[in-house]
Amino acid sequence: TEPNSAIFIIFGGTGDLSRRKIFPALYNLFLENRLPEKLAIVGSGRSKLTDAKYRATLLDSVNEFSRRGKAKKEDWTTFASKITYQAANIKDVGEYKAFETRIKEYQDEWKEKPAIIYYCAVSPEFFCTIAENISSAKLENNEETTRIVIEKPFGSDLKSAQDLNHKLLTIFSEKQIYRIDHYLGKEVVQNIMAFRFANAIMEPLWNRNHIEHVQISVTEQIGVGSRGDYFEHAGILRDMIQNHLLQLLCIIAMEPPISFDADVVRDRKVEVLKAMRKILPGKIDAISARGQYGPGWVEGKKVPGYREEADVDPESNTETYAALKFYVDNWRWQGVPFYLRTGKRLFKTASLITIRFKEVPHNMFHSENENVPKQNRLVISIQPDMGILLQLESKIPGLEMRLNTVDMVFDYSGKTRSDAPEAYETLLLDIISGDQTLFMRADQVEAAWELIMPVLNSWENNKVRNFPNYPANSWGPENAEALIAQDGFHWFNLP
Ligand code: BG6
Repeated sequence: TEPNSAIFIIFGGTGDLSRRKIFPALYNLFLENRLPEKLAIVGSGRSKLTDAKYRATLLDSVNEFSRRGKAKKEDWTTFASKITYQAANIKDVGEYKAFETRIKEYQDEWKEKPAIIYYCAVSPEFFCTIAENISSAKLENNEETTRIVIEKPFGSDLKSAQDLNHKLLTIFSEKQIYRIDHYLGKEVVQNIMAFRFANAIMEPLWNRNHIEHVQISVTEQIGVGSRGDYFEHAGILRDMIQNHLLQLLCIIAMEPPISFDADVVRDRKVEVLKAMRKILPGKIDAISARGQYGPGWVEGKKVPGYREEADVDPESNTETYAALKFYVDNWRWQGVPFYLRTGKRLFKTASLITIRFKEVPHNMFHSENENVPKQNRLVISIQPDMGILLQLESKIPGLEMRLNTVDMVFDYSGKTRSDAPEAYETLLLDIISGDQTLFMRADQVEAAWELIMPVLNSWENNKVRNFPNYPANSWGPENAEALIAQDGFHWFNLP
């Protein structure tokens, strides 16, 4: 049930996230006619800007970052007329009066109660301040129609996440809080649910009887760039594993929910996190590997090592690469290892989930020329190419019985990436219509923190002597290869 009217108040309205993601996504939803007819978007930031100037900078952002390319003039003019700017210091409760005035104006004009969405696209230290000031300034806060959107990172460890949840929940109820993990909005990630639960042939195979191991890999070519200050205090364990990669693991490992009801789906995910084997402080080296990139060459250009990036300590101990091995201790997954890896400045940008099935129980092929059936693999490619492929063994046409591996490919029937909605489009639409399925619930975030705390503590307290331990433009550190090789496997990459 989508509301007829909505007001977005975007704190951090001049920031990077607003420019790169939020406004291009809102604009694309507008082009698809998916936004409420009565819509007001109030962007807020510290600088003093006129509406006209603000709209002009947003147009530049949309032109640069929208998957649909440059905006057409008439479309943009109509969309931009819904946007206004409000300068405010978010720390100063006195300045929130201005938002109240805006909200009242729209309510009077529309003569109805719109959905009100407070969007915290700001740095995490301000999440609480904004919530508290909304409350102290007595801005509209109706349990049914008011929502607050919290970007990541949600806390920097278990304790801070619990504190933040606690504070938010004194002001808003859980069903008003939309904690973003943008990976959950990605097209292929949503398709995993369809793939698993709309096909009768998958479920019987989806367990320890048939699956040997699972790999979840998010590799990125980019370095930390201008985000050194944030990254130096976060590290990749907090930045990627605690949220995106563990959420992917949950979608692969969860039991079938009985419906798409937001809480039913999220209950099943939390059960996975709760079933994950606790990491013992003394055993961390056996199940993890960390790395930090050094300088290297990318397309003929020299790129700096992590320690040479802006706002990074020249002796930094922060990890830019992490690989971890997990187990899910339940009937379905007992004994099946889940390997997660992610890193910056790697050879290729790709997000892949690979599920390797067990060997055939008996090999009846002549094994000369290595004519042995390879184990089947299901590869879910989230980006940059979207697709799912099943690697099967097949006879090479010819007079002999020789095998090779062929791909059965589901390639989104020729759809290109620009046809698929961006994660933020899906998520923004869900926020407007009040669907929390793809958002992180309080217990979900906390369970993920709880799981990784032993690793986080150990990595923070134990300095690595050989950092940097992988060059830019490589596949990461050797210890990550060793982590998976000790079990007889290797990291899978698409050609
Ligand atoms: C963000 C991380 O959450 O996700 C970044 O903070 C990372 O470090 C980004 O680069 C990756 O997202 P995507 O959508 O580009 O895969």
